[in-house]
Amino acid sequence: MANLNIKFAGLNYKNPVIIGAGPPSKDAETIIEAIKNGAAGAVAKTVSSQAAVIPKPCMHDFKGKHFLNTELWSELAVEHWIENEYENCKLNDEPLIIGMGYVAKDIEKLIPLIDRFADAYEISSHYVGRDITPMLETLKTAKRLTKKPVFMKISPGVGDIGELGRQLELNGADGIVAINSVGPCLSIDIETGMPHMGSQTGYGWMSGPAIKPITLRHVYELAKAVNIPIFGVGGISKGEDVIEMVMAGATGVQVCTQAIVEGPKAFGRIVKETNDWLDSHGYRSLDEIRGLAIKNLAQRTSNNYETIAPTLNSNLCVGCSICENICPYNAIEIKEKKAIIDSKVCFGCGVCTSKCPTKALNIA
Ligand SMILES: Cc1cc2nc3c(=O)[nH]c(=O)nc-3n(C[C@H](O)[C@H](O)[C@H](O)COP(=O)(O)O)c2cc1C
Repeated sequence: MANLNIKFAGLNYKNPVIIGAGPPSKDAETIIEAIKNGAAGAVAKTVSSQAAVIPKPCMHDFKGKHFLNTELWSELAVEHWIENEYENCKLNDEPLIIGMGYVAKDIEKLIPLIDRFADAYEISSHYVGRDITPMLETLKTAKRLTKKPVFMKISPGVGDIGELGRQLELNGADGIVAINSVGPCLSIDIETGMPHMGSQTGYGWMSGPAIKPITLRHVYELAKAVNIPIFGVGGISKGEDVIEMVMAGATGVQVCTQAIVEGPKAFGRIVKETNDWLDSHGYRSLDEIRGLAIKNLAQRTSNNYETIAPTLNSNLCVGCSICENICPYNAIEIKEKKAIIDSKVCFGCGVCTSKCPTKALNIA
C-alpha cells in the first residue's frame, strides 16, 4: 500500500482526491456522501453575494466523453449555506475549502460571514474574463480579510499561464486550482434543432475526459512557474489520470464530472486505482513521481524528427487487425495472426501503439 497522503498549503489530506466545486458538493449531504465513498475533502460549491439563477436544462452528458453545463454557481444563498450546510460538511476532520466568487465586492461581503467555517478558500475567476487585474483585486481583498489559505481557481483561455501563476503567487495566493470548465461551447439536439443547454445563447461549458489534456498543460505550465501547490481538476475519471496530473506537477486533484456521471463511489474507485498503479510500479508515495514529466522534458534536447518504427511483442499480439486498419501509411499487415511492420514505409507516427488493445506495439 503506497502512502497517498498529501499536504496542500498546510492542509492534510489522507489521499490526493477531493470533491471539486459542482453538483457533488452542492450541499452538506452530497459532500458527506462523497467523503464516505473515499474523497479526502471538498470544495463546497461556489457561493457569491447573490444566489445563482440557473437556466435549465443545465447539464448534458455526451456518452462519458465530455459533458456540458450551465450551472453558474450555487443556487443556494450564502445565508442558507451558513444556517444549514457548512457546519455539516465534515465526517471527521476532512479539510473544507469554501468556493466563492467573483469580484472584490462579493468577497468583502462573504468572508466576514463564512470565515469561521472555512479551512481555506477557493476563488473562482470564471465570470470575470481572462484579464488578470480583477483576479488580483479579488485575491488581494481575500488576503486582507482572512488568515485562512486562499487558492485561486483559473479558467482556461489565459495567454501566458506561467506568468499568471507567478502573479498570483506574488500577490499572496497559497495555491492554484486548474482548471474550470472550457468554453463557451455549443451542442445541438438534431431531433429538435435546439441546443441541449437551456441558457439563452444555448451555450454551455465543457468538462469531463475530453478536457484532460488542457488541464494537464495548465498544471504543467503552472508547476514550472510557481512554488505554491496546485490542484489539477478537469477530466479526471480514473487513477491513471491522477498519476498523470501528479507527474505534471499537481499536488492533488479534484473530481467533479466523473462523480456526477458515476455517483460518489467514483472517489473510492479513483483512490484505489491510484494506489494500485503506484504499487504495481514500485512507488511508495506520490512524492516519488511528482513533477516527473517536468524533469524528463527538461532533458529533451531535440524535436524528435527521427522516424522510429514500433517494435512488436509477438507474444502479446492477438492479430486483431486494429493496427493494420488504423495505420495511415499502410505500413502494417497481419500475417498468420501477427502484425508485421514495414519499417521502410512506417512514418513513426505512433497511432498504432495508442490503439493496440494488448500493448503489443511499442515505440521505444
Ligand atoms: C454541473 C457543473 C457545475 C459546476 N459548478 C462549479 C462551481 O460552482 N464553481 C466552480 O468553480 N466550478 C464549477 N464547476 C467546474 C468544476 O469544478 C471543474 O472545474 C470542471 O468541471 C472540470 O473538472 P471535471 O472534468 O472533473 O468536471 C462545475 C462543473 C459542472 C460540470
